[in-house]
Amino acid sequence: MSRQFSRTLITSALPYANGPVHIGHLAGVYVPADIYARYLRLKGEEVLFIGGSDEHGIPITIKARKEGVTPQDIVDRYHSMISKSFEQFGITFDIYSRTTSEIHKKTASDFFRTLYDKGEFTELESEQYYDEEAGQYLADRYITGSCPHCGNENAYGDQCEQCGTSLSPTELINPKSALSGSVPVMRTTKHWYLPLDKHEPWLRQWILEDHKEWRSNVYGQCKSWLDLGLQPRAVSRDLDWGVPVPVEGAEGKVLYVWFDAPIGYISNTRELLPDSWEKWWKQEDSRLVHFIGKDNIVFHCIVFPAMLKAEGSFILPDNVPSNEFLNLEGDKISTSRNWAVWLHEYLEEFPGKQDVLRYVLTANAPETKDNDFTWKDFQARNNNELVAVLGNFVNRALVLTQKYFDSRVPAAGELTDYDRETIAAAARVKDEVEKLLETYHFRDAQREAMNLARIGNKYLADCEPWKTAKNDMERTATILHIALQITANLSIVCEPFLPFSAEKLRSFLQTEKLPWEQLGRFDLLAEGHSLGKAELLFEKIEDATIELQVQKLLDTKKANEADAYRAKPVKENIQFDTFEKLDIRVGTVLECEKVPKADKLLRFLLDDGLEKRTILSGIAAYYPNPQELVGRQVCFIANLEPRKLRGILSEGMILSAENSDGRLALVSPTKEVLPGSQVV
Ligand code: 2FM
Ligand code: ZN
Repeated sequence: MSRQFSRTLITSALPYANGPVHIGHLAGVYVPADIYARYLRLKGEEVLFIGGSDEHGIPITIKARKEGVTPQDIVDRYHSMISKSFEQFGITFDIYSRTTSEIHKKTASDFFRTLYDKGEFTELESEQYYDEEAGQYLADRYITGSCPHCGNENAYGDQCEQCGTSLSPTELINPKSALSGSVPVMRTTKHWYLPLDKHEPWLRQWILEDHKEWRSNVYGQCKSWLDLGLQPRAVSRDLDWGVPVPVEGAEGKVLYVWFDAPIGYISNTRELLPDSWEKWWKQEDSRLVHFIGKDNIVFHCIVFPAMLKAEGSFILPDNVPSNEFLNLEGDKISTSRNWAVWLHEYLEEFPGKQDVLRYVLTANAPETKDNDFTWKDFQARNNNELVAVLGNFVNRALVLTQKYFDSRVPAAGELTDYDRETIAAAARVKDEVEKLLETYHFRDAQREAMNLARIGNKYLADCEPWKTAKNDMERTATILHIALQITANLSIVCEPFLPFSAEKLRSFLQTEKLPWEQLGRFDLLAEGHSLGKAELLFEKIEDATIELQVQKLLDTKKANEADAYRAKPVKENIQFDTFEKLDIRVGTVLECEKVPKADKLLRFLLDDGLEKRTILSGIAAYYPNPQELVGRQVCFIANLEPRKLRGILSEGMILSAENSDGRLALVSPTKEVLPGSQVV
């Protein structure tokens, strides 16, 4: 049974201030949270929408070291960039603050101290790598070494980026400190742990029994964690960037970033409402909703609730509508590989088109599974939906009113059955959108909102007021009256999703912001009301614009490939006479065909200057028409021990160049030479 709440506290994950924000952030967290906040406000509910930057954690210190600046410099730079991007996209935070604020440090520190004083932590000693030259313990990311799985010599203490395996620092072969390059030693250190194992029983009941309505991806992830059995989690780190652990003898230790970050929601509420923040966080009639991405689920559904419960005076989240990930043109968005559409760049390249991106990201929201953003889809949704459906309807309603009624809302005459059906269909949109928004189905809710424009378009197309205007002005007036009332309804229903366009609609219609409750009414515009000047709501996006964006991504891909190539270590040096042992020659292709039942192999028959020689090469995927290679010259190793492949004797090896993405291209001399010529 759903509970009755008096107010809603919406939090959105605090992004790390170590880079700008991109479309993945917007789609996953901030647009849905903003839609929800705007909707509740429009309904007149009491709402608070909290945001802010997460300014602690190792990646920030690593970036600062790389750039030779302080961590504070890094977070200052990105905090202002991020908050500006959010503001420009119309994300209506009531506060966007930061975890380096004094009030946050105090709130987080006091929170830890309360739990400490209540005996909610266990203290444990463990062995950890220590850099004697730098005089500090090493975070997992600060230790590099060889991966025990793939041999990559530059694996990190928490993960090998070459083979993707999660590691612990003790698994690395030949560990080295990334700070000084020295070999780290093991030292004993003490940390405070939140005993999640003790919290497991109530967490099981609270999530698995009492919150079956949570999204299945969220519920499922929690269930797997709980079924695996929860372990105590360290909430402190040996580090000099963060909130100091407020306990004697804890010098050089700070709160773990995932302990202090969610407390940031509380600190930011306190900063905004120093006298009334507790009402939002401690009263049972307040509803707390966390908007996050899927990598944050465990922290918001298990760890933070355990912290709140341990403290004792806080409410727990009512829902955690987490999204899955948004990919970009088929690849995972990555800050380090620059594979992203950055919001600050979008704003420069598509000025005034914030709503287009908001719309596309919601239409494609990764609510139940990972989804893909493509520039083609962006263009199609803009041109075929925003321009052709919404923009077109509004424009026709306004321009026709201008033409036939001097931009004044005409009076409705007698209604036909079809008019009544249209009005009834339009009025139903309210219930549908509400139902969907209240259950966090933002994608479907937006589709339903757009249906109102579809209803309007169909109505105009069916009633053809431009024809009735020739002989029946009363009928024309009725049709346009209804179309304008639909337009006014659109200005309400679009407000949560497309706030910039809703504002434009209000200026076209010369109305104030109307409350949600009025959605579905057909008396929103009075007879004779004067309309403003109609402009286009959306404009078509041309192919050339999209091609530019696609090219930009292709350039990024190329740059990444070049980086990956450079990153491959050059093999060990060899002596010249070792090289001389290889007999590399040029041959002319006489025959070339696919080897039956071997997808990858091509059989080459070469003129090698002396005789004919057969060589098999695993290059079929890159030469779909092998006959075209006949007559071409290729390089091959002539003295490689012959070996049988698929029952065919292969006498040597044909040389190919391998791109960093694995694509192969045959190596040929740039001018024709005699077959059998040596490569020297
Ligand atoms: O994943 C992230 O980007 C984290 N900075 C989110 C923190 S959410 C909250 F706990 F602050
Ligand atoms: Zn590896």
